[in-house]
Amino acid sequence: MARWEVSFTLERGPGVPLFQQIARAVSADIRRGRLRPGDALPGTRTLAHALGVQRLTVVAAFDELVAEGWIVNQRARGAFVSTDLPDPKPRRFTSWEPPVAMADRTGFDLLAAPEPERPYDVPRGSLLFAPSRPDVRLVPGKVIGRAFRRAMSQRAGTLLSYGPSQGHPRLRQSVSTMVASTRGLAAGPENVCITRGSQMALSLLSRALLRPGDVVAVEQLGYRSAWESFKVAGAKVIGVPVDRDGLQVDALERAIAQHDIRAVYVTPHHQFPTTVTMSAGRRLKLMELARTHRFAIIEDDYDHEFHYDGRPVLPLASADRFGVVIYVGTFSKVLAPALRLGYVVAPVPLIARIAAHRSLIDTQGDQVLEYAIAELLDDGEIQRHIRRVRREYHARRDTLVEALRSQLADDVTFAVPAGGIALWVRATKSADVDRWAARARDHGAVIVTAAAYALDGRPRPFMRLGFASLNSRELEEGVRRLAAARPIR
Ligand SMILES: Cc1ncc(COP(=O)(O)O)c(C=O)c1O
Repeated sequence: MARWEVSFTLERGPGVPLFQQIARAVSADIRRGRLRPGDALPGTRTLAHALGVQRLTVVAAFDELVAEGWIVNQRARGAFVSTDLPDPKPRRFTSWEPPVAMADRTGFDLLAAPEPERPYDVPRGSLLFAPSRPDVRLVPGKVIGRAFRRAMSQRAGTLLSYGPSQGHPRLRQSVSTMVASTRGLAAGPENVCITRGSQMALSLLSRALLRPGDVVAVEQLGYRSAWESFKVAGAKVIGVPVDRDGLQVDALERAIAQHDIRAVYVTPHHQFPTTVTMSAGRRLKLMELARTHRFAIIEDDYDHEFHYDGRPVLPLASADRFGVVIYVGTFSKVLAPALRLGYVVAPVPLIARIAAHRSLIDTQGDQVLEYAIAELLDDGEIQRHIRRVRREYHARRDTLVEALRSQLADDVTFAVPAGGIALWVRATKSADVDRWAARARDHGAVIVTAAAYALDGRPRPFMRLGFASLNSRELEEGVRRLAAARPIR
């Protein structure tokens, strides 16, 4: 073999002693195969010279390597890589001063970062009225764990390999059956692409649909993380107002007269954040506009399962005969956000395009998890869980409504939503809801106010109080804290 040459530099100073640095560098080269069993090492004098250290330092390093079994000393001949190398058993990583500290800034210019919804900063002991989260304490972790283990032990041979970017065929099948039977979508498995949550779906759709300069109309107030996905693709996002019947389609029509709109992003089931359901008349009108003007409707149905008073309103996609609606769903609210499972239901040509984009970002999803969840859907386990949490969230909605009525009757007004996981609450007297939020924080209650959902970021006297992730006792306590935190007028 070619002569081994020193390819490391030593860090002088108070860190790791020099002899240890040399020993680690040599053993690393042996592990890497740069030095092979039986290879001769340079003499201690030569190496000391090459490294600019005392010979005794190299002797100490060699002693260390001999002690660890990496090298052997042969009298008069010098040191050789051991032919009986130590078992390279995985050891814990040991921490040592790396030779070069990580730079605290980049050596090149950065672009502006997108501005998604900020993660909530929740002080310890505080109660978060999470605008859009389920209670993960209710998630049947053991059931999911068992299904995952079954998939892993029975199907590792295929599931651990590369697979289709559209998702595991079994989950595509299960999701298509689910959306057909619960949402009236005439979809087959070929119409489904599994994604890591609806956020990935929105990001993929942005890539597949939008060119720089394209205009996307969104609900205002609305969901910031969707807007940011569109903007990252170079699109211009324009806001269309929302009232108690959902997106004001007349205002959209006026916007269409001014802009060449490529897509409209809506949450018609329970508008995010105001919780209103889009009226039937507006739904029809919106679909008609899409057909006439050839824009896509991105329907984000993030909380479809949560309806408490009667049946859910079917999605726009269930009435789409012209291929204008792209349906986005998620398991984040019905199961758990960390599973990162969402899906797009759309005509096949679009599914093929987003799958192609997905293959560049993420190759594929977690097939083991996808298979496990498909099995749980096919067995009815997920449906059982949904029934259970629906009942629970219904009770929580009523608890929050009751607590607000009894403790904050003079300070807030709201309409009770027929479903969903949050109330949209107007602060009646105190217009400065953001001051209230700041005070509430000091009292141990974290709330999100309207400014977070506004394109212009301006304050408005509303807050979105999520009730799903807090149990009844926590909701009552949270409202007590909100009441205690009312700004003094
Ligand atoms: C309106 C809306 N859409 C999409 C999402 C994203 O959910 P996920 O990416 O977890 O599926 C959320 C989550 O908060 C949401 O509120």
